Amino acid sequence: MTEPLIEERDYDQYRTVEDLGGWTRTHHLGELTAADVDREVCLMGWVQFRRDHGGLIFIDLRDRMGLTQIVFGADYGLDAHERAHAIRSEYVLAVRGTVKARPEGMANPGMPTGQIEVQISGLKFLALSKTPPFEIEDRSEPAEVLRLKYRYLDLRRPKLAKNFILRHKAAQSVRRYLDGLGFLEIETPILTKSTPEGARDFLVPSRLNQGSFYALPQSPQLFKQLLMVSGLERYYQIVKCFRDEDLRADRQPEFTQIDIEMSFVDEEQVMHMAENMVRALFRETIGVDLPTAFPRMPFAEAIRDYGLDKPDVRFDLKLKDVTEVVRGSEFKLFAKAELVKALRVPAGGELSRKEIDDLTEFVKIYGATGLAWIKIKEDGEWQSPIAKFLSQAERDGLTTICGLEVGDIVFFQAASPDVVNTALGQLRLQLAERFGLIKDGTFAPLWVTDFPLLEYDPEDKRWVARHHPFTSPQPGQLDLVATDPGAALARAYDLVLNGSEIGGGSIRNHTMSMQQAMFTALGIDQAEATEKFGFLLEALEFGAPPHGGIAFGFDRLIMILCGAKSIRDVIAFPKTQKATCLMTEAPGEVSNRQLRELGIRLREKKD
Ligand code: AMO
Repeated sequence: MTEPLIEERDYDQYRTVEDLGGWTRTHHLGELTAADVDREVCLMGWVQFRRDHGGLIFIDLRDRMGLTQIVFGADYGLDAHERAHAIRSEYVLAVRGTVKARPEGMANPGMPTGQIEVQISGLKFLALSKTPPFEIEDRSEPAEVLRLKYRYLDLRRPKLAKNFILRHKAAQSVRRYLDGLGFLEIETPILTKSTPEGARDFLVPSRLNQGSFYALPQSPQLFKQLLMVSGLERYYQIVKCFRDEDLRADRQPEFTQIDIEMSFVDEEQVMHMAENMVRALFRETIGVDLPTAFPRMPFAEAIRDYGLDKPDVRFDLKLKDVTEVVRGSEFKLFAKAELVKALRVPAGGELSRKEIDDLTEFVKIYGATGLAWIKIKEDGEWQSPIAKFLSQAERDGLTTICGLEVGDIVFFQAASPDVVNTALGQLRLQLAERFGLIKDGTFAPLWVTDFPLLEYDPEDKRWVARHHPFTSPQPGQLDLVATDPGAALARAYDLVLNGSEIGGGSIRNHTMSMQQAMFTALGIDQAEATEKFGFLLEALEFGAPPHGGIAFGFDRLIMILCGAKSIRDVIAFPKTQKATCLMTEAPGEVSNRQLRELGIRLREKKD
């Protein structure tokens, strides 16, 4: 006689949720091995899979540490067997049982617990689960909107969870290292005044002081300097910073810095300390030994050769200045441009017209109006829409400067230096991806130094600090700040890793007169300086030690350590590109009563 088919709903009676009732977990789910055979265990976790195999039911139970296979043998009591049938994905179970070696041929060498299974003697349902909106496993690639809305489920996926395990280890490594050097971890205010990192502030209205606003810190810059004036000497903090700016793959409105400041140091000492911290971090988290001395490159060289102030030096491909070669060219765009640069891609001639068109669209993002190119063909012919305008002398000049060979493609930008450098610098990164020029698992740290102290903001028509206004000019250059602002160099340094700016800092102006000179150059008058930063200026008059520091983008560091492509994969509850949280639905509207208490009336309020 065949057994009647039991319908789904008939299992409901077996889905009884119980509490722990004195059961105590003995092992986590990545822990049991062949050495534990015959051990009595109690395990708890989430159901990954349930498989029925000829009377036997297998469950893969998951927790943060791994998976363990649970088996309901045929001799398991009938009632309990029905309960086993009632199990669904993501239920939370407690099981008791005995560790057994898996039968011949059933072991899974790819899994740490792959030699064993746990034969069950008792089962409790600790919680049921609705069918999750996506499969909780590494192979599934759910849409990001779903992942962010159900972030707590997304974080159950081992691929993502492992990023946070690594992030934790990284924070511990940093704390250990800095503690060993006598740094103090000191918290600084979140409700504060505007700080000058150059982005827009997030503002918080004050109820007790109506009409006044706190700004969330863009960084603890001023406070860490004040801690140096206090004589605390070595400060650090792993701290949230807030910047209301356009978001990108490696930017979030709230992000985390490893923020550091030291007294009685010059840039060599800060850089030495920072290098050792990053080296220890890589060794302790992913077992990678970074080079013993990180190479250094002046800003001007970075722009000249790579077009960007954060060069990815994992691959070669340098930009070449060909302005002089094409100065008298019949190709008017080249002849007239302030700067013309070329980027040769060895053996890049295989790029199709469609690919070149796509690259042309790509460089337009960076202000380019087009993208000139030449392919060097087998027969020596120059295939290009612009070839006919180039004289033999120009061809010879380009060949020599760029080292052109048969099979190459060479791209050109002719425009203002900013556009040329940015467009070709970004194109260089794009081409590295297209031609697979970056070897997996390579790490190329690089200090970029000798930054300009100031840069001209054409929109505001004034000089602005390239880092922030507390950065000191290089020795002997204080006068330049007034006479030739564009020429003054800063005592600033950025740490670049694989083309990502992971940290930046400087030696600060530690006297009132140095700081005042800087404000003057920035067109900030006494009244404005006092209004914005009076407390710092006053502190500088009470004996501030020479000091300097650095801040690392902790999220960016973790991205590199994890190999993550998006900063959102290393932040537990990140924001979207539009700075919203899909899970909590922040930012949200507030009640009229709350607004009234704050003394705020919205100009246009949706009903
Ligand atoms: P800076 O503004 O260069 O310096 O910031 C330091 C580092 O923080 C990271 N970072 C970000 N990461 C994610 N999202 C963002 N929106 C974001 N903005 C910056 C970068 C950057 O290198 N007070 C100074 C430091 C100092 O002078 O000591 C500062 O904040 O990795």
